[in-house]
This record gives sequence, C-alpha cells and structure tokens, in this order.
Amino acid sequence: MSAFVPSERIKNMQPYRLGFIILGSVLSLTMIGCSKPASDEAAASATAPTAEANATMSREPFGTLPDGTAVELFTLRNPSGMEVKVTNYGGIITELKVPDRNGNIDDITLGYSSLDGYLESSPYFGAIIGRYGNRIANAQFQLDGKTYKLPANDGPNTLHGGVKGFDKVAWHAEPFDRDGERGIIFTYTSADGEEGFPGTLEVRVTYTLTDNNELIFDYHATTDKPTVVNLTQHAYFNLAGDGSGDVLEHELMINADRYTPVDATLIPTGEMASVEGTPFDFRQPTAIGARINAAHQQIKIAGGYDHNFVLNRSGEGLVLAARVDEPKSGRRMEVYTTEPGMQFYSGNFLDGSITGKNGHVYTKHSGFCLETQHYPDSPNQPSFPSTVLRPGETYSSRTVYAFSTFDR
Ligand code: BGC
Repeated sequence: MSAFVPSERIKNMQPYRLGFIILGSVLSLTMIGCSKPASDEAAASATAPTAEANATMSREPFGTLPDGTAVELFTLRNPSGMEVKVTNYGGIITELKVPDRNGNIDDITLGYSSLDGYLESSPYFGAIIGRYGNRIANAQFQLDGKTYKLPANDGPNTLHGGVKGFDKVAWHAEPFDRDGERGIIFTYTSADGEEGFPGTLEVRVTYTLTDNNELIFDYHATTDKPTVVNLTQHAYFNLAGDGSGDVLEHELMINADRYTPVDATLIPTGEMASVEGTPFDFRQPTAIGARINAAHQQIKIAGGYDHNFVLNRSGEGLVLAARVDEPKSGRRMEVYTTEPGMQFYSGNFLDGSITGKNGHVYTKHSGFCLETQHYPDSPNQPSFPSTVLRPGETYSSRTVYAFSTFDR
C-alpha cells in the first residue's frame, strides 16, 4: 500500500528497548556534550563539506520563561538535509526542514520564530499534548467511582490537558547522537492533581530523527495512582512550505473505514460511523479541499475536518495511518502509529489573527495536523479503547512521521 516503509530496525524495535538504548547513549553523550568527536570535526573542516559531516546536532539558548526558567533550542540534522528545531518548552517543533523532489529544502511546519510567540498565544503549534490529547466532555470524568473535575478551557470541555497542559511546561531535555539517529529525550513529572488529573505522572517523550528522514515519537508514562493518559504531537504541516497558502490541494489518504462523529462542542457522540459515501472517506487519496465545504452536518459543525479516525488495524504494532502528497513540491509524508486513532484537523480555527515565522499570516486551512491518539473523550465513553493507566503499568506509544518525495 505504501511507497515508503519505516526502516526495519525502527519498525521492529520495541519502544521500551529503544528507550534503554537511548538512555545508554545519553549517558555517554553527556560526557562529550552534543558535539561530534574532535577528530571528526577536524576531518570535516579539512575536506569539502559532505552530507555526512553535517549530520549532527547543536543547542542554543531560546529565551526565558516568566518564572526565570531558561529554555533551549535544539537542532537535529541528518545527512539528507533534513533539519528539526525543537525547544524544551512544550517540546515544540519550531522548524522542520525537508527536501522536495528537486532537493530544495523548505520549512514545512507552522509556528513562531521566537519563544515570545509561543508564550503569548499559540494554537498548540508543534507541541507535545498531554495529559489528555483532545477533549474531555464537561471537564470531568469518573474513575473507580470517583469524579475528577478538570479546568474547562474549550467551552464546557477540557481541551489538550487543560489550561496549562504539557505544551506549556519546561521539559528536561537530554540530547543523544549515535549511528544513524539523533534526538532528544524529554522528561517531565506532572504532579498529582495537576490540571485536576490524579496521580503523579512520570512522562518521557523521545524525538528521534533518523538517516531515513523519519521523525519518531516515543511516549512513555507511569503513574502512582489510577489516572487517564493520551499523549500526542500537535505539529501543523504545509508540505509546500510554511506560509505558502492553504493546504487544500494536498492529497490525503487515511487508512480508516470509520470515524467518530461529534456533537456541537466537538465531543464524540459515541458512534463509530462508516466513512463510506461521506466527505470522510479518504481511503483513496483525495485532495483535502475536495469536500471540505460539503453540505455534510459533521463538516459544518467543525468548519472543515476536526475529527478522529478509527484506524484500520489487525493487532498491535505500527500501522500506516495516513499518507499526504503535495503535488507541486513532490513532498510525501506518511504517518505510522501504534495508536488506535488519529485526529485530522484541517486548521479550521486559523483565522488570520496569527502572524508567525517570517511574517506569515495563518489563515483558515493554512496547515493541517495529523494527531495520533486514543479517541477524544475516552474517559467518558465506555465503548472506546481505554485510556486508563494504573500503577505498575507503563503507557507506551510510538508514532513515525516519514518523509520522502514522489514523481508523477
Ligand atoms: C483540535 C481542534 C483544536 C485544535 C487546537 C485540535 O487537536 O481537534 O478542535 O481547535 O487542536 O489548535
């Protein structure tokens, strides 16, 4: 089905194993900082720069939070020219540079160029989302007979973890760099009761950039009290390049026979409806814009797409969730995940009020998000896969964004 398959090593490696290996490499890496060994640097400067010589990572200051915490910006590069900039504030991806079919490199993610933008107001540009990705109805849920009240930050509902979710905290960051892979291990301890959620949650999110143009997200969490968890990543993409207009001509394939329709406040009704014969049928690649103004009640409610898709899968492990082809640049993005669902959000709430990087004004549909996740409002929906995490269990999830190009 797919032109691109995640490298076998990544596909077969269990997230927890990768974690151990990463931890091991971090220990050795902290001894040498994040630069390459001196002998490599000398070799690189003595010869004409090669792609391999540029495969490295660096870190720099990215400003200070209102409480005085200094945050950093990390740059990850691979030999094919892919470059990812990410800050430990919210784990936000601020830039994602990817080659097009002619080798031209563009930044394909929306965002701000400085920390201030993210601090002032951000629709979760590029950030880690937690404790609970997407909405929890009426800002509450019950677990083991107890009711937990959360802050309502989206009408009557809780969105993306509450008022101060994981997108707005400073994560501890440990860079690593080893053969064919480089990345950052982000860790954060969310206190018992933070944003109303029970249990001290120890969270680890690892970003890995491979030599095969894969960006891998590994999520782990443990708790000391029963709780609910649903972590995701909220990057907005425009594969033609940030600021190059809307994404309506991008061709999208979603590997889902069903989706979860929503009520007027974007809470799932509980139904898992067939996509057949609806604007939600992306089983064959279809332009995002082809049916985005259709006279379909679900499209009208959301002002476009803002829905969870029930991914087709037979068993556990990584499945291809989506493929996006941008015809002009030839850039292709594929999403693989261990999650049961994916939120396709077509940037409906971008309304021109945000001016981001390089003066780019973000208007409706100028970016899209593919957020791999458990279904919205699962804590209140007994028929959905459970998001409950109990002491002694480990939350573990992996998503791969794989970039390539196509010719037609
Ligand atoms: C949600 C949208 C929300 C957006 C915030 C998406 O994950 O589904 O409804 O507006 O995040 O930027």
